[in-house]
Amino acid sequence: MQKSEKRGKFITLEGMDGAGKSTHIPNIIAALKTRGVEVVSTREPGGTRLGEQLRTLLLHDTMHPETETLLMFAARREHIANVIEPALKRGAYVLSDRFTDATYAYQCGAKGVSSNKIKQLEKWVQGRLQPDLTLLFDVPVEISMTRLSTAREPDKFEREDAKFFEKLRQAYLTRAKENPKRFRVIDANQALDKVKVLVENIISTI
Ligand code: TMP
Repeated sequence: MQKSEKRGKFITLEGMDGAGKSTHIPNIIAALKTRGVEVVSTREPGGTRLGEQLRTLLLHDTMHPETETLLMFAARREHIANVIEPALKRGAYVLSDRFTDATYAYQCGAKGVSSNKIKQLEKWVQGRLQPDLTLLFDVPVEISMTRLSTAREPDKFEREDAKFFEKLRQAYLTRAKENPKRFRVIDANQALDKVKVLVENIISTI
């Protein structure tokens, strides 16, 4: 790569389980590709061979919330080193289905892990790396829970109760308020076509 080549952009998708974020990934990839840029679509936990193995443990095994936090960041370290940073360096757009905001929402907001501990891990694992844009798909708790009840066999997080989901939603909305420059909150409780247009409009700004 030439030194003068532009660094890529890092876009993350967030929201409670059942908020519908993953449905929009193919459209976002297509919208970005029309610009002729390379798009790397990935996810957390996961995105690498080791990360996918950790994902299986994280989504199905019961563990202490701090163990969960440490494993999330272990997977993230691998993901950043092997996928995210190399792609950004060569000018690609990286689209990640979840990143560190999910740790603040799930492990801190919903499970009570100290935000200071998460901040320390964030600094250690990410350095200065932060998403350039984060789309938060927001729906009322009843809607996400109804969507989940009709989906495939639920994982450990998807089996949590309404109280957990309410804490999760509030934690995400607080994160968005605290980081207004990179967050865009999308009301995902409307017709899919409308959400699609909203998403396309936001993507066109980056
Ligand atoms: P997904 O099904 O949306 O891909 O997400 C996997 C699950 O992992 C989801 O329930 C949220 C959870 N998760 C965390 O609890 N903390 C994290 O840091 C990440 C990235 C995901």
